[in-house]
Amino acid sequence: MSAKDNALQFSIKTGSPESLRCDCIVAGVFDHRKLSASARILDKASGGLISNALKSGDMDGRSGSTLLLRDLPDIAASRVLLVGMGKQEDLSEKSYRDAIAAAVKAVSNTASTNAVITLNELKVGKRHSGWTTAQAAIVTGEALYRFDRMKSKQEGQIGKLNRINFIATDAAAKGLKQGLAIAHGMTLARDLGNTPSNVCTPTYLGKKAKELAKTYGFKCKVMDKAACEKLGMGSFLSVAKGSDKPPMFIELHHNGGKKGDKPVVLVGKAITFDAGGISLKPPGDMDEMNYDMSGGGAVLGAFRAIGELGLKLNVVGLVPSCENLPDAHANKPGDIVTSMSGQTIEILNTDAEGRLILCDALTYAERFKPAAVVDLATLTGACVIALGSHPSALYANDEKLAQSLEKAADNAWDRVWRMPLWDEYQEQLKSNLADMANIGGRAGGSITAACFLSRFAKNYSWAHLDIAGTAYRSGRDKKGSTGRPVPLLVQFLIEWEGKS
Ligand code: BES
Ligand code: MN
Ligand code: ZN
Repeated sequence: MSAKDNALQFSIKTGSPESLRCDCIVAGVFDHRKLSASARILDKASGGLISNALKSGDMDGRSGSTLLLRDLPDIAASRVLLVGMGKQEDLSEKSYRDAIAAAVKAVSNTASTNAVITLNELKVGKRHSGWTTAQAAIVTGEALYRFDRMKSKQEGQIGKLNRINFIATDAAAKGLKQGLAIAHGMTLARDLGNTPSNVCTPTYLGKKAKELAKTYGFKCKVMDKAACEKLGMGSFLSVAKGSDKPPMFIELHHNGGKKGDKPVVLVGKAITFDAGGISLKPPGDMDEMNYDMSGGGAVLGAFRAIGELGLKLNVVGLVPSCENLPDAHANKPGDIVTSMSGQTIEILNTDAEGRLILCDALTYAERFKPAAVVDLATLTGACVIALGSHPSALYANDEKLAQSLEKAADNAWDRVWRMPLWDEYQEQLKSNLADMANIGGRAGGSITAACFLSRFAKNYSWAHLDIAGTAYRSGRDKKGSTGRPVPLLVQFLIEWEGKS
């Protein structure tokens, strides 16, 4: 969506490495100066200058190291960047991705405007060549991403690198297409996440959804407060009424499948700012709560990728969006609201608002007779304490769906960790005044939040991803959206399309 992202061009290059005319060619070197296939060809063509440089001790192939050589004789590229890959026998997914990121950053620090990356020829664990190329595109997109629209002067990319080529392999073209769509979806999710809450409001998200719909031919409906009232979304609207920014409930439809094929429904939490409400959060990291719309942002990001790939299946996206602020109209601890399902909820803590907006969206999802519903939400701080920032927490009421998501997460390298949804935990949600309370105490906070949602997802196959630790990075000058779990969602849908 951003200009820069559109300016990045990716393609596949065929031909022998020494003959590829470009500003920089990137080749891998393994531990103890062992050359990759492309590096070997470049070395031979240049009369051994690469091995000489390695012998001199400038680089030994250790993972993460790089060495830039210029103007090598009989090599069409102006520069050769050698990238350390570590031990050849155990080139892991992580080292491979780290090496691509290091390479792209090193090239972008030169004056190169284009590059040929040959690293996708390498064997990574048990992965096939489509995987290595898809991941190369995803990681390159991630590494070159900048968000500077809020700066008075746009810096753009470090250098001017905007054309990336990967080397041809068996499945490179297919991998590139999928990787690129994922990268584009991540960029949209990151842009939305990084846009501050005074700009990225529920109305703004609604507008973005309509733009997406226009570009890719989705059906799109953005429901306002009155429409949600008519539907009886008492729980969602109770959160929204603490803010003067109007709530929006976004509904997107991609009808790529057969008419009557049951859709996959994606539901994303989009609290554009979470101050906690009357149960106000401490000021510490409150600024980061503009990322509390990341679930909804990921749904829009996934839709961009779905549209670009033209997936042959039916997908519905639901994004309930509002702010959670303290105000004279805001929910108060002890208030009891009636959800769209008819179940009543005692709001013991107004900061547990994500589940209050999701529960009505989950009830609304029933009308689409879904084959599966997957919701994503920056739902609990407890999830970050339990799992840190590497996996998203996965909950499901259906084993098969859980396994499909676990497989897609592994394939997309956007990993999840399965968590329990046992009945024992449900007891923590007891209320003597209403059907349930909206919090279950400190113990197992991510689990009891999922248990709460499960009560609204009884009529279909459902999974929930708590993405509080994975959707964005924290820190004063390091914070930023990661675009997760767009890779997982898109991979899951690609694999679903393959099965149906
Ligand atoms: N949006 C937060 C969860 C969150 C916290 C995400 C930190 C990322 C980082 C959510 O609405 C929330 O406030 N949850 C409460 C629930 C509690 C009151 C039961 C939490 O986790 O503290
Ligand atoms: Mn909250
Ligand atoms: Zn929240």
